[in-house]
Amino acid sequence: MSQLKLEFKTLLKSHAELVEKTLIELLDEACLDYEIERPARLMQAMRHSSLDGGKRLRPFLVMESAKLFDVKPDQSVLAACALECIHCYSLVHDDLPAMDDDDLRRGKPTTHKAYDEATAILAGDALLTLAFDILSREATHTSATTRIELVKLFAQNSGLGGMVGGQMLDLEAEKKTSISKEDILTLQAMKTGALIRCACHAGAVLGNASKEEQQTLFDFGDIIGQAFQLVDDILDVTSDAQTMGKKTSKDADKGKGTLVSLYGLEASQARAEELLEMAIETLVPFGKKADILIEAARFTIERKN
Ligand code: IPE
Ligand code: IPE
Ligand code: MG
Ligand code: MG
Ligand code: MG
Repeated sequence: MSQLKLEFKTLLKSHAELVEKTLIELLDEACLDYEIERPARLMQAMRHSSLDGGKRLRPFLVMESAKLFDVKPDQSVLAACALECIHCYSLVHDDLPAMDDDDLRRGKPTTHKAYDEATAILAGDALLTLAFDILSREATHTSATTRIELVKLFAQNSGLGGMVGGQMLDLEAEKKTSISKEDILTLQAMKTGALIRCACHAGAVLGNASKEEQQTLFDFGDIIGQAFQLVDDILDVTSDAQTMGKKTSKDADKGKGTLVSLYGLEASQARAEELLEMAIETLVPFGKKADILIEAARFTIERKN
């Protein structure tokens, strides 16, 4: 294994540990200052949905993008955790019977299986709102202007024109007998791409990067976001539930149009490699400083789960 890949693996693990520790603290203290009752069942369901699992790739991208602009991980971890809360909420709702109806997530029962549907809906809602509570805090960034910028960035990428909008298009597409490549690309860029792009862009915002630098991180995130869902669809065909921690063959069972169903595995793999080259190209302006982000892009393509 190359030195850089080793360094990446070590960093992915240590950032994930920092995220886990911070999420535990955030969930422990959530609402404490409101002096109101915190429903224990809801707190447990939020913990089930967000702790002890996942690759933590989005928070990693926030922290490593911020590092390009000399922001240390302990200064970017709160924004990173806010994004992970939004991601976890999206998974809880994605797994609901009304959506993908899945029983297994991150190797554990999905939240509605471990608790019940109503509790899972509320745990998702509470994780989403906790994310914005975190973003509003002074500890997330000392500048109120930057915090507002982050709130806008996260809201736009999570909502109507981002993840939620993409999930709507995804559900509608399942009902169609055929779907064009353009439509698949649009819905994937929204349902999955938006949060990954947001992660990279947020790092640049945290680091007060110039507009050009922000654009570079946006472009990088856009490309690896595309690659990420493409690989999710490949792994849905080639991997198994044990490795993935979630059910596989879901897309074919639902007759879902994906780039894999449209072009086959080989062409999809080749496209993933092409996207990796494009992602690496976008980071050229940062030189060697971007080596770890390049490894993150490689991981997006080469990951096994
Ligand atoms: C799964 O995301 C949902 C998709 C957008 C494909 P991840 O593969 O990042 O899930 P975790 O966080 O590692 O569980
Ligand atoms: C999920 O896409 C995208 C989200 C916004 C959660 P999928 O439905 O393919 O994700 P998995 O395969 O269940 O993780
Ligand atoms: Mg889905
Ligand atoms: Mg799903
Ligand atoms: Mg999938």
